[in-house]
Amino acid sequence: MEIRLAPLAGITDWPFRVLCFEQGCDCATTEMVSALGYVYAPKNHPATQSLLRRDPREPRLILQLFGKEPDYMARAAEELSRCGDYDGIDINMGCPAHKVASSGEGSGLMRDPALAERIIRAVVKASALPVSVKMRLGWDAAHINAVEMARLAEDCGVREIAVHGRTRMQMYAGEADWDMIAKVKQAVRVPVYGNGDIFTAQDALERIKNSGVDGVLIGRGAQGNPWLFRQIKDALAGREITQPTLREKMETALRHYDMLLNWKPAHVAVSEMRKHIGWYLRGERGATQLRDRINRMERAEEVQDLLRRLMEENEA
Ligand SMILES: Cc1cc2nc3c(=O)[nH]c(=O)nc-3n(C[C@H](O)[C@H](O)[C@H](O)COP(=O)(O)O)c2cc1C
Repeated sequence: MEIRLAPLAGITDWPFRVLCFEQGCDCATTEMVSALGYVYAPKNHPATQSLLRRDPREPRLILQLFGKEPDYMARAAEELSRCGDYDGIDINMGCPAHKVASSGEGSGLMRDPALAERIIRAVVKASALPVSVKMRLGWDAAHINAVEMARLAEDCGVREIAVHGRTRMQMYAGEADWDMIAKVKQAVRVPVYGNGDIFTAQDALERIKNSGVDGVLIGRGAQGNPWLFRQIKDALAGREITQPTLREKMETALRHYDMLLNWKPAHVAVSEMRKHIGWYLRGERGATQLRDRINRMERAEEVQDLLRRLMEENEA
């Protein structure tokens, strides 16, 4: 049973993934990378290089590509599957963002099985690594086709399938439909990973048991909570689940900060860390006021001091 980190564009960069791996995450996926962008970008293009970066502390990393041109998808897969940095290539058939889906990429491919088939076949042929697909249930409630798309993907040579139990039109509203995920699991022989709305170890236990999936992907539940991976593994093994202390949370936030500061310009790190700190503080006393204060701070040292003081005051 694998507990994996789902790709979250703008969030699951290598520092975030390293913290999840420390807590028992089995495998992660990069943020989605545009195949067209990769093929055309100069090889040292900073934004693309950021997305492609793998840290040595990441034991298993899958690269996710999105696009709608079989040729560019295949060219990107061919090169990136041979660079030695990744353990698999994943095809994005789930992104609901308007500019991606309405142009036929991401979840837009759920509406065009013929094109999806050409892309999957081209990527499987070009890739030196196993290929997987991450999909939604379908475009909308009237067009649920995850079972057909999963069979198609399997027929094209895909080795794993991940299903987020929502349609494109749902975006992130409503609840993920794990009964539909179970139907996909029953329909194919390749491993199926279920995804959607796992925020606690209990959520994971119930969904794994009821759907029979081979593993799960955790997305938003890992934001500010890399400990969820360890908790799920403990729950699966029948061990007691423990909650992180404020000290653990603040120490993790400070290490997260250091990794970002060592990688990005300080003003970028300060801005990006605001959302992460907001998540780390969730559920703590005075979290709203603390978040407001931190969001007004411009210097990393100020924020780091505050996090250290929080830890010490709590233990005084
Ligand atoms: C901010 C954000 C960014 C996302 N970026 C990606 C992405 O790059 N590739 C992808 O396949 N899915 C992406 N997703 C979808 C997630 O991987 C996942 O399928 C979804 O959040 C449901 O899982 P969860 O309930 O565990 O969060 C994104 C979701 C969010 C909220």
